[in-house]
Amino acid sequence: MPEKQPMIIAVCGKGGVGKTSVAALITRILMERTAGKILAIDADPAVGLATALGITPQRTVDDIRKSIVKTIRADHGGDIRQVRARIDYEVWNAVAEKENMAFLAIGRPEDAGCYCRVNSLLKEILSTMARHFDYVVIDGEAGVEQINRRVMETVTHLLLISDTSLKGRQVAETIRKLAESLVEYERAGVIINKVRDDREWESLPEPKDCLGWLMESDDLRRLDREGKSLFHLEDAALLSSLESLLARTAFIRT
Ligand SMILES: Nc1ncnc2c1ncn2[C@@H]1O[C@H](COP(=O)(O)OP(=O)(O)OP(=O)(O)O)[C@@H](O)[C@H]1O
Ligand SMILES: [Mg+2]
Repeated sequence: MPEKQPMIIAVCGKGGVGKTSVAALITRILMERTAGKILAIDADPAVGLATALGITPQRTVDDIRKSIVKTIRADHGGDIRQVRARIDYEVWNAVAEKENMAFLAIGRPEDAGCYCRVNSLLKEILSTMARHFDYVVIDGEAGVEQINRRVMETVTHLLLISDTSLKGRQVAETIRKLAESLVEYERAGVIINKVRDDREWESLPEPKDCLGWLMESDDLRRLDREGKSLFHLEDAALLSSLESLLARTAFIRT
């Protein structure tokens, strides 16, 4: 596959504010409006993006990591090039595809211990992988840790989601500040999600680097209730407001 300079969008914020929903909707919008290749990554150990995208992943990156750690232990180290080639091969194999979108789940590490070598290899391979796509959309873990540990170093566009709550806005601001001091993103900004109406929006103090807001959607709530993917979302107003917000703020290429 040819190498590209992808736009890598990471969606971060407090728990429950709508990261997964927004990441899935961005993926859908990109699939529908671009001919480019999109890689959607579920980087939240609590998982959810697969369901939101209607995908059943077979293997996660963590499953691969675990099986390779076992092999390395059995071989008392092993040849680094062989290990690298095997991870590369297996990670590509674990990718689930749907039209112009590929999906990869990082998974849920359950064991403690130092697997730095494999983890850094995986990080490297993921960043290599990104070059084969036009867009990468990452559904991040709730809170600040992934930013703090520089897991999001290869990201170009940091999208912070908050709901209308003070706590949600505070967490978004903490991540924004931390990100500013650690990594130079091309773009970083905040979206306030689940806003009831204009009046509620006007009553909120505007966060720094605010990109805009998204309305609370009954249709999205319905899909969540029914466990359906966001490809079933019929709320045209929500989709078009997210699409124009992303285009206006250069979070997608126009
Ligand atoms: N704009 C919206 N309108 C209505 N409901 C929404 C909206 N955005 C998100 N929700 C609902 O809010 C809940 C949390 O959303 P979501 O799972 O996307 O958040 P999250 O930040 O990924 O949560 P977690 O931190 O648990 O991963 C879900 O029930 C989802 O359907
Ligand atoms: Mg989520």
